[in-house]
Formats: sequence, C-alpha cells, structure tokens
Amino acid sequence: MANLKLSFIYLLQCIQIISSILPPLKIKGNQILDSRSEIVHLHCVNWAGAHQRDFVTSGLNLQNRSFIADQILDMGFNCVRLQYSAQMVVENPVIPQIFLEENKDLINKRALHIYQEIVATLTQKNIMVILDMHMMDADWCCNWDDQNGLWFNERWSKKTVIDIWVFMADLFKDNQWVIGADLRNELRISYPFGKISLFPTFPSWGRSISPWKYDWANFAETLGNAVVKANRNLLIIVQGPFEVKLTKFSYPQTLEKIPGRPLELDVPNRVVYSCHDYSWFHREFNFQEMKDTDENYEKIKKNFQIRWGNLSKQYPVWLGEFGTVHSFQGVENNTYWKFLTRYINETKVHWAYWPLDGTQASGRGREFGTEETFGLLNTRWDGPAYSGLIDSLKNIMF
Ligand SMILES: *[C@@H]1O[C@H](CO)[C@@H](O)[C@H](O)[C@H]1NC(C)=O
Ligand SMILES: *[C@@H]1O[C@H](CO)[C@@H](O)[C@H](O)[C@H]1NC(C)=O
Ligand SMILES: *[C@@H]1O[C@H](CO)[C@@H](O)[C@H](O)[C@H]1NC(C)=O
Ligand SMILES: *[C@@H]1O[C@H](CO)[C@@H](O)[C@H](O)[C@H]1NC(C)=O
Repeated sequence: MANLKLSFIYLLQCIQIISSILPPLKIKGNQILDSRSEIVHLHCVNWAGAHQRDFVTSGLNLQNRSFIADQILDMGFNCVRLQYSAQMVVENPVIPQIFLEENKDLINKRALHIYQEIVATLTQKNIMVILDMHMMDADWCCNWDDQNGLWFNERWSKKTVIDIWVFMADLFKDNQWVIGADLRNELRISYPFGKISLFPTFPSWGRSISPWKYDWANFAETLGNAVVKANRNLLIIVQGPFEVKLTKFSYPQTLEKIPGRPLELDVPNRVVYSCHDYSWFHREFNFQEMKDTDENYEKIKKNFQIRWGNLSKQYPVWLGEFGTVHSFQGVENNTYWKFLTRYINETKVHWAYWPLDGTQASGRGREFGTEETFGLLNTRWDGPAYSGLIDSLKNIMF
C-alpha cells in the first residue's frame, strides 16, 4: 500500500514537472523562455498592499495565504507581481494583529518577514513572483504630487534605492521562482525636491537638454546591472515613462522611445519592457458611447501599437497593469475592455491584471477593508467578485 501511494505521488510530481515552467527564465528575441527553452507566457496578477501605509500584503486578515495562493492558481495565473516600498524595507515595522487575523503565525512579525512568507507560499506552489518597488514612500500610487514619480526624492537618494534593490535581489537569490524585478513604477511628473511650490521634473527616455528632465534609461541601466549582479536569475523589468502629448492633451505611459535607445545591461538578454494601460490613458475616446465595431477598434488599436504593441515584435513586452471594474458593466458592457483584450489576443503580450485584492489597503484616498472595485476577489477573499471577468482573462492566457 505504502509503495503504491509513493509511486502515485512520484507520478503526480512527474506530471507536474512536465506541465509546468522550469525557471530561471531567459530572453531570446522577443520571447521569454524557461531553462529548457520552452516558451513562457506570463499571465500574472498584482497582489497589492505591502507598498502602502499598512506595510503588509492585503487580505491576510480575511484568508490564510495558502488559500489565497490556491485561488490564484485556480483562476489560471502563473505569476504574481508583488508590490513593496523602499520605506517598507528600511523601516520594517512589526505588523499589528488586525492585518493578520487569518494568518496567526505572522502576528507580531515584521514587514519583511511577512513579505518573504508570501513569496515562499506562492513559489512553493510554482507561482512565479516579480518583485515590484511600487513606491519609495509607503502609500497608494500614483498621485501627481506624491514625489514618487522618479527614482529619488528628498527622503530617498539614488544610492539608497540601489542599495535596497540589491538587498531585495540578494534576499531571494536562492529561489528560482522569483523571476523578475520591476525597477520603479509609473515614471511620471514629480516634485522630488519639495512640495508643489518648486518646478516639476519629468522622466525622459535617453538624454535630454531640458534641465527639468531626468534620464530614466540611464538610471535603469545602472540599477538593472546592480540587481542582476546580486541575483543572476532575475529578469529586469523596465517601464517606459509617461510622455506629454501636446497634440492630444494627454499624458499616457509609453514605450515608443525605446527602439531609439534600447537598454544595454552588462548581462545580455535580461530586459523586459513594461507599460501600463487603463481606459483613462485614452482620453480622446468616449468608451461609454463607443460601439464595439471593427472601425472603432482600428482607432484605439493605433494607441496600443504606438505605446507598447509594436515593440513586442522586437522585445518581450509585459503589460504590468491593466484592469477594470469587476461587474457586468466593467467587462461585457465596456468597449475599452473588449478592445484591449482583443489586442492582447492579437499580440500575445505578457500581462499582469491589476489587482487580485478584494479589499483596499490604507493610503491616500484608500481605506483599509473597503471594497476594491477592480479586484478579482470578493470582499471576503474567498471567491471571484465577478466570474465573467475571470473568464475574460482566461481567454488571454496563452
Ligand atoms: C486556509 O483556509 C482554507 C479556507 O478557509 C481552509 O480550508 C484551510 O484549512 C486553511 N488552512 C490553514 C493552514 O489554516
Ligand atoms: C505598428 O505595426 C503595424 C503592423 O505591422 C503597422 O501597420 C503600423 O504602422 C505600426 N505602427 C507604428 C506606430 O509603428
Ligand atoms: C449592455 O450592452 C447590451 C448590448 O449592447 C445592452 O443591450 C444592454 O442594455 C447593456 N446593459 C447595461 C446595463 O448597460
Ligand atoms: C483570439 O484570436 C483568435 C484568432 O484570431 C480567435 O479565434 C479567438 O476567438 C480570439 N480570442 C479572443 C478572446 O479574442
């Protein structure tokens, strides 16, 4: 009996190994491959909270972490983009019981310990993890005056940001399921040296003669090199900056400057370019009124192509955030959502839905425990908020 049981477990393990991905990952052309050179498609979900004022990943007051990870697997995701802040790492506070009611073994543990436990729970189930320094100061992202639009501010020097990343990369260097480092989130207008009384600064891609522009490509190279040196397994994920479009009076995130100035790291074949897309990045379209026709699709498709779609023919591109309201109106009756998923299906870009969370974490304009209307899970974190949204995402898991 015992033998039969053992061989059955062995068989199960073999099946699991055959069917699953084997990290570390590498890049060839515009593809992400695993260590056996099998093509990998990243269809991830953002699990937020640890970058905000509570310093802890959300939902742990409502369900145990293993059960949340099982739901991530059941929904079909193969990876998680896991937020943290520089402040979380440096202050590393003890996390109060109210955030951990269903994970009693973590009560009175520190923020970093809990972050590591979440990574361990996910990766033990063969869910890949991408570390994301979402904010420097612990808070909800992104407000135009939050001083977190660049990679330094009054409180966080460039050197400290590098040191924290090297520390985080090193912390997970023996866990091959930790596959990526998303260096900084949504590079955008910022007032790094004080409140709004001073002039704003902007990120640029490549050198600029404007004194109010800072070269993100240059710093991403320095930072990326430091991270890869600390942890050879990591893909370096670099987001494009937001670019002012005076002609359209819009300010979207875009990768359009990258072909003119691709990153060159010391270790080749490491970089994944990342962009986010939300309906409000396309202010020229009124999606409430817009009909779901091929002609309209071609119009918005131009934005997708310019900003991130066309680059995916040359390099791996990861849509690290996109999302919608978890309801019939947000999915079936939303032309933006239909067009975006249609284009993802055409290009097969990698992606991460924003967010998993059924409830909010504390932060500017956010209140711990209230409903997260974009969340995949319900407010009890024990099932989908709207199964139609999960079904829609399953159609773009390749
Ligand atoms: C985690 O929660 C699930 C669902 O409530 C439950 O079935 C399971 O026993 C719990 N596991 C642990 C270790 O508490
Ligand atoms: C993007 O690619 C499509 C298809 O190859 C091409 O028709 C279009 O002109 C490209 N757009 C841009 C902005 O490069
Ligand atoms: C959703 O869209 C369908 C088809 O266009 C329409 O018949 C229906 O009234 C819409 N429902 C809502 C709640 O907007
Ligand atoms: C994806 O594209 C294929 C091929 O064009 C098509 O058959 C399929 O219905 C599409 N799926 C979605 C979800 O758009």
